[in-house]
Amino acid sequence: MCGIVGYVGQHAVGPILLKGLKRLEYRGYDSSGVALFDEGGRSETFKAAGKIAAIEPMVLAKDQTLFHGGIGHTRWATHGAPNTTNAHPHRVKDLVLVHNGIIENYREIQKLVYARGYKPVSETDSELFAFLVMFEMEEHKIDLIEGVRRAFPKIHGSSSVVIMSEKQPGLIVAVRNGSPLVAGWNKEFGAIVASDAQPILDHTNKVYYLENGDMIVCQKSGIQFFDAYSGKPVERKEVTIDWSADRLDKNGYAHYMLKEIHEQPRTILDTLHAYFEDQTHRPFEFAKNAGIDQLSAAQRLSIIACGTSWHAGLLGRYWFERYTHLPVDTDLASEFRYRNSHFTPGQVVMGISQSGETADTLAVLQDVNKNKVPTLAITNVKGSTISREAKSIFYTYAGPEIGVASTKAFTAQMLMLVLLAGRLGRDLAVNDSQGKKMIEIDRLYRELFEVPHYLSMALETGGSTANAVKKAAQDTLHSKAFFFIGRGYSFPLALEGALKLKEIAYVHAEGYAAGELKHGPIAMLEPGVTVIVIAPKDIWYDKTVSNLQEVKARGAKIVAVGHADDKTLASMADHFIPLPLQSKKPDGQSTLDESLTPFLISPILQLLSYEIALSKGTDIDQPRNLAKSVTVE
Ligand code: G6P
Repeated sequence: MCGIVGYVGQHAVGPILLKGLKRLEYRGYDSSGVALFDEGGRSETFKAAGKIAAIEPMVLAKDQTLFHGGIGHTRWATHGAPNTTNAHPHRVKDLVLVHNGIIENYREIQKLVYARGYKPVSETDSELFAFLVMFEMEEHKIDLIEGVRRAFPKIHGSSSVVIMSEKQPGLIVAVRNGSPLVAGWNKEFGAIVASDAQPILDHTNKVYYLENGDMIVCQKSGIQFFDAYSGKPVERKEVTIDWSADRLDKNGYAHYMLKEIHEQPRTILDTLHAYFEDQTHRPFEFAKNAGIDQLSAAQRLSIIACGTSWHAGLLGRYWFERYTHLPVDTDLASEFRYRNSHFTPGQVVMGISQSGETADTLAVLQDVNKNKVPTLAITNVKGSTISREAKSIFYTYAGPEIGVASTKAFTAQMLMLVLLAGRLGRDLAVNDSQGKKMIEIDRLYRELFEVPHYLSMALETGGSTANAVKKAAQDTLHSKAFFFIGRGYSFPLALEGALKLKEIAYVHAEGYAAGELKHGPIAMLEPGVTVIVIAPKDIWYDKTVSNLQEVKARGAKIVAVGHADDKTLASMADHFIPLPLQSKKPDGQSTLDESLTPFLISPILQLLSYEIALSKGTDIDQPRNLAKSVTVE
């Protein structure tokens, strides 16, 4: 979704805005623009469709010593095509603004603007807000700050606006109601405001998150916080971000997505270390978190999420059902939101969101809170709107994820869910003195610490797993369709594998529960179609292999993922991708419990999509039409 950066201060404005916008590229956008203000109050605007690279030379060609402030924007089109005219910033007389969100009553405002004899230049709803501010300023003879304050309550829907005026060039006014805004300031640098913390981290790691209804006035001397509706000053706490700016770079990888796939062994460890008190491989206690008590008291758990996070939620159901007695349902937030969901006593609702900003997930949590049903959330972004809306929060420690297609954040969500399922299961086992269950969960926790080791082997460049992935990708990339099939834990993985391929390689891919193959998709199987069969040695294995045979009989190409010693699978598949894992140790024990194989399979499928997309030459980190953080419905 749209990205915003605004800056006033003593450093070169153009490069700061451009770098900041590049930090926000991951959100997805289709045009961009920058406005620069000089001391005398004159402003210049540079806009273009496409990538930031299109405006960069125009901005940098200017003598930067002239400017002391400005605003920049990356636009993800909603109202009006992605072209130069519709790109932000928009200018109305002396006012220049950027906007993120949707103005729902834009028709009404448009009528007013025409009625007063003006004609907006763009097709956007955003430009209309500048007219509203201008009308307020002219009518009441007030300044920009007061004008924004009076105009803001007149727009409906969720919006954030950052605005400057040529008449008051030393200040930026920013107001939030919906899409996030974060601000930062230091004496040597000045003040910066942005859609998230990433553009700010290059300058300071101390930030302020705006609440809905906040208005700030940024000047090089500092930032003032107000309630946008009453105009009264408010206090906002400074938050220290523990992500350093170098984690925002590619560090030698061709793409952020590849870097993030390879980071997973480390991010799994980071999340484990954040939640276990030590590494003694004994049963661990979570750091104190009220969410644990909420879950322990729950009679029913409803998980809601969107996209990849929904797939994590689907996996969560399998883990909770295996390790606890808790009834669990997993739902799409966009569906749950408009259904007549009936809450039952003891129900707890858990939202999962990498960004912590997804509009549908947030809306469900808000509705549920209104119904006084306890809410929990799993998110990767501290200070995000969802983290503040949920009554209890479990953070994942994947670090910043820049690739639009979620990889390491998904794995971290899975990890959080399996940890919670184990934690809850252990409590129940202690209470019911179920010795066997306790041993099972202790083993789960112990083995979790082995996952990073196996995963590093799977991802090792030139290793047998990564090589097999590459070969399979090269041989199947021209397939007319892909089906991913699996049972049990491998069913959500099949959905996620197909989603990744669609997202970054733009090919037709569907994920199916292997048992459903015969209820429809089998009609499509023929030479030229590829079926990815996810078949680790687990309790569903024999059934999945039967499905594989049905696929083979129809002439589709088979890529099978399974345990390294699985000769049956290797002999039946066109391409066999071995997990770096034997199904049995010499003593007959399996090397990793079947509930943990998703932690190896998911990154392998991510790599497969990556390799296919790489050969197809798509824009892997910023796939067309997609946004990382979907803050509109
Ligand atoms: C977008 C992203 C997906 C993500 C989904 C949910 O569609 O492109 O990668 O899974 O939103 O996002 P969330 O931040 O709530 O996990």
